[in-house]
Amino acid sequence: IRMILIGPPGAGKGTQAPKLKERFSCCHLATGDMLRSQVAKKTPLGREAKKIMDQGGLVSDDIMIGMIKEELNNNKECLGGFILDGFPRTVPQAEGLDAMLRERNKNLHHAVELQIDDSLLVERITGRLVHPASGRSYHRTFNPPKEAMKDDVTGEPLIQRSDDNAEALQKRLAVYHQQTSPVVHYYQKTGIWKGLDASQEPGQVWKNMLQIVEAGQ
Ligand code: AP5
Ligand code: ZN
Repeated sequence: IRMILIGPPGAGKGTQAPKLKERFSCCHLATGDMLRSQVAKKTPLGREAKKIMDQGGLVSDDIMIGMIKEELNNNKECLGGFILDGFPRTVPQAEGLDAMLRERNKNLHHAVELQIDDSLLVERITGRLVHPASGRSYHRTFNPPKEAMKDDVTGEPLIQRSDDNAEALQKRLAVYHQQTSPVVHYYQKTGIWKGLDASQEPGQVWKNMLQIVEAGQ
């Protein structure tokens, strides 16, 4: 399968993508997770990216397109297809992805938009807890870990993302509406776009996701 997930911060991209990965035996490429791993390693890119991410801005298109290209070329899991989470989030990134696929004679199957009202996102974002190494996310109220502040799988500590505060969220939402909404229109013109109600509980969102994806196979 080759698909992308588009949606505002907190829509549930990172919650649904690992399930899709499992179901379809493909790779899950989350550009935010990839950047956070650079930040953790304190690479030059990580140092630059941290400043941008903490303010809710976007890292440059060239860097992001290069990152995805590198993964699609070298990540063996991507041989079975891919779920892109957080990319493309600008029109130039969408064009970059199209060019990459064209070179490989491949097409995209689904561009799924997780639709949700901004007002529901504050609580989701400020209550989120993440396991940095795997990218797994939890929520203090909606999806609590089995043991407080510990990852269910590894038992390692959970943290709060440094951009998960109300102030950075407002900026991320503004950037989403300005720069990423045009990506939705870009795919609406292609016929592979599908909208999904992302305000329902995660299990219901997953059911509807499968329906969309399997109907279009
Ligand atoms: P990124 O990591 O992609 O952040 P984001 O787009 O803001 O999205 P989130 O991860 O916040 O939301 P999500 O949809 O994954 O939500 P989740 O499933 O975790 O990017 C971070 C930064 O990196 C960007 O701001 C930018 O600076 C940079 N960047 C990344 N990609 C880039 C690119 N391509 N170009 C340029 N810059 C880039 O869910 C959120 C919470 O809600 C969790 O606690 C979860 O448990 C809970 N939850 C999920 N679903 C439900 C539900 N149905 N009901 C109730 N609670 C739910
Ligand atoms: Zn995410």
